[in-house]
Amino acid sequence: MESTLTAQRYYVNGEWKESSTGNVVEIQSPYKDGIVGTVQALSQEEAEAAIQSAKQAQKSWAKVSLQERANLLYKWADELLAMQDEIADIMMQEVGKSLKDAKSEVQRTYDYIRYTAQEALHTNGESMKGDRFPGGSSSKVGIVDRVPLGVVLAISPFNYPVNLSASKLAPALISGNTVIFKPATQGALSGIKMMEALDRAGLPAGVVNIVTGRGSVIGDFLVEHKDISMVSFTGGTKTGENLAKVAGMKPVVLELGGKDPGIVREDADLDKAVKNIISGAYSYSGQRCTAIKRVLVHDNVADELVAKLKEQVAELAVGSPVESNTVVPLIDSKSADGVQALIDDALAKGATLVAGNKREGNLIHPTLLDHVTEDMDVAWVEPFGPVLPVIRVGSDEEAIEIANKSQYGLQASIFTRDVDKAFYIANELEVGAVQINGRTERGPDHFPFLGVKGSGMGTQGIANSILSMTREKLTVLNLGN
Ligand code: NAP
Ligand code: G3H
Repeated sequence: MESTLTAQRYYVNGEWKESSTGNVVEIQSPYKDGIVGTVQALSQEEAEAAIQSAKQAQKSWAKVSLQERANLLYKWADELLAMQDEIADIMMQEVGKSLKDAKSEVQRTYDYIRYTAQEALHTNGESMKGDRFPGGSSSKVGIVDRVPLGVVLAISPFNYPVNLSASKLAPALISGNTVIFKPATQGALSGIKMMEALDRAGLPAGVVNIVTGRGSVIGDFLVEHKDISMVSFTGGTKTGENLAKVAGMKPVVLELGGKDPGIVREDADLDKAVKNIISGAYSYSGQRCTAIKRVLVHDNVADELVAKLKEQVAELAVGSPVESNTVVPLIDSKSADGVQALIDDALAKGATLVAGNKREGNLIHPTLLDHVTEDMDVAWVEPFGPVLPVIRVGSDEEAIEIANKSQYGLQASIFTRDVDKAFYIANELEVGAVQINGRTERGPDHFPFLGVKGSGMGTQGIANSILSMTREKLTVLNLGN
């Protein structure tokens, strides 16, 4: 059952507040007329107060024992799971994710938070002997510890409003940082609910503060602020590039867009390839950074692959997220317009329409385009929608060349029965990760997750995120001085 949402407050120094400006941002429903709720549009002064609260709380939070920080995370995970139905309902209404997927996002986040605590509890520092290093002395012992960076700015995207927020907050908190959390505006209602769970778990005042409002209005102020020590960002490449410039010398981790290819060799198990490509390309209407966003298939099996893809596209459940459909309306009309423009451009330039090209409001029916060529925008642009271009190639080398021509380098899939060829192609691809005979995807969440080129910098994944939010600190004991 859909709940009725009201105005949400922001959270600073352990208190829920309304902006003194009286300004709010309305969150439009992706799939029905009207708004689903409002969030506070903070002024710069209010954002400043949040940063100062986080800065002040950080010194004492860093002194809390690791066991106690881990206990807070375990309690947070429990509270979150207890709110699973409520949060999933809000997520569905706010970002149009099917109820089933929204529920599994909450479960995934529960697992993520707990694993983060366990990972940190098993981390040790190291010590080094000076030995007879030239210019050194055997009487020196170096003790290498990892210490928090300070105040982490966590900026998340709309498409996983709970999981991609918690995957920044949990590693920041366990390692003794405090947090300024800037959720995507469309996603903020879900982020605030996640925050309620953390508040209930007993979060000390100031340790996490939510700053809501349009990123285009307050984003640069937050990123360039001298008391922000590190920025963990997930979102679009354009936003990320701007952020990297504004951040100056602050450490940043950027997880950005992608154009992941599914490469199908002529020796592939086509049924397996089709199953993975369909779920990779169309789940949540392709609104995943790791969605398969183009197929590069060998000429000799292209007809058969496209025929099988067509059959499976026809089977996809399309419609409202309330009925747990796979292909649901896109986040907003601007996004749907962009996807439609890519389809129109490809068809005007001679692509073959195999399925789809039907639109109802923000709902774009799953669209499959064959004979896509390099002069078409859909060959290169990240759609963030349910449109899949098929590009036919004559060799592995051609597939590698087209794959690497992209400005993006997040992940790639290779479908083949030849493991040597799979490794040859994997080695040639300029991406953060290669999936052999599987769809491109982020999980399991303790694996390293990264993009190269326009897809990001730095690495996430549970252990890597903890590393990125801490730095080494060396203390040298000089024996016998
Ligand atoms: P987006 O428009 O770039 O927004 C991401 C976040 O940045 C939002 O919180 C946004 O706030 C904020 N923002 C906007 N302007 C800012 C500024 N000047 N300074 C700081 N922050 C600012 O991305 P999106 O539409 O939410 O998400 C879709 C994109 O994210 C796709 O390209 C997708 O591939 C990518 N993505 C990548 C990954 C990955 O792990 N590689 C994962 C998920 C999504 P507002 O919402 O208030 O504008
Ligand atoms: O949208 C980007 C997410 O990081 C993708 O996660 O591969 O589990 O859908 P996923």
